[in-house]
Amino acid sequence: MNTPSILFVCLGNICRSPTAEAVFKTRAKRAGLDVEVDSAGTSGWHVGETPDPRSIEAGKERGYSFAGQNSRAVSKNDFVLFDKIIAMDHRNFEDLIEKCPDTYQHKIELFLNYAPNSPETEVPDPYYGPDPYSNKDNGFKHVLDLIERASDGLIKTLKPQAEHIAPK
Ligand code: 4NP
Repeated sequence: MNTPSILFVCLGNICRSPTAEAVFKTRAKRAGLDVEVDSAGTSGWHVGETPDPRSIEAGKERGYSFAGQNSRAVSKNDFVLFDKIIAMDHRNFEDLIEKCPDTYQHKIELFLNYAPNSPETEVPDPYYGPDPYSNKDNGFKHVLDLIERASDGLIKTLKPQAEHIAPK
């Protein structure tokens, strides 16, 4: 079977989708799942930049590496090349649907569909400050919590035998 490929997408490709890339890579490897992972933004606002230092700091605390990541914009070719294109929020989803040729629209999904017990349906944008779900933290830890949960759900659909994902 071919190695599955996944593209995580948010708006700027400096906060949420780089976090999803880092988290998913680590947890897939831990689960023994061979997968290609990348991330991109629906905007080109931060092209070439490294991930947001607040994302890097929050991720590092849980052992995730953002090494080698630089922001890029989604391209037409991505819709052809990737098996799954995973949006962080509803706006990202709608923007992707707009950019994507009809033949490939089935590849576009909302990430938190893989976190069925989550009361939220989207990974909130942490860029502009605290989100209402977190009391003290600046929102980046909450983003990590959601992304870890959805990553494990997605890993299970790609590798059902990975029932037990080893804790850190
Ligand atoms: P991201 O967060 O989509 O999770 O990377 C954002 C980054 C930058 C901006 C918005 C959201 N911005 O407006 O520049």
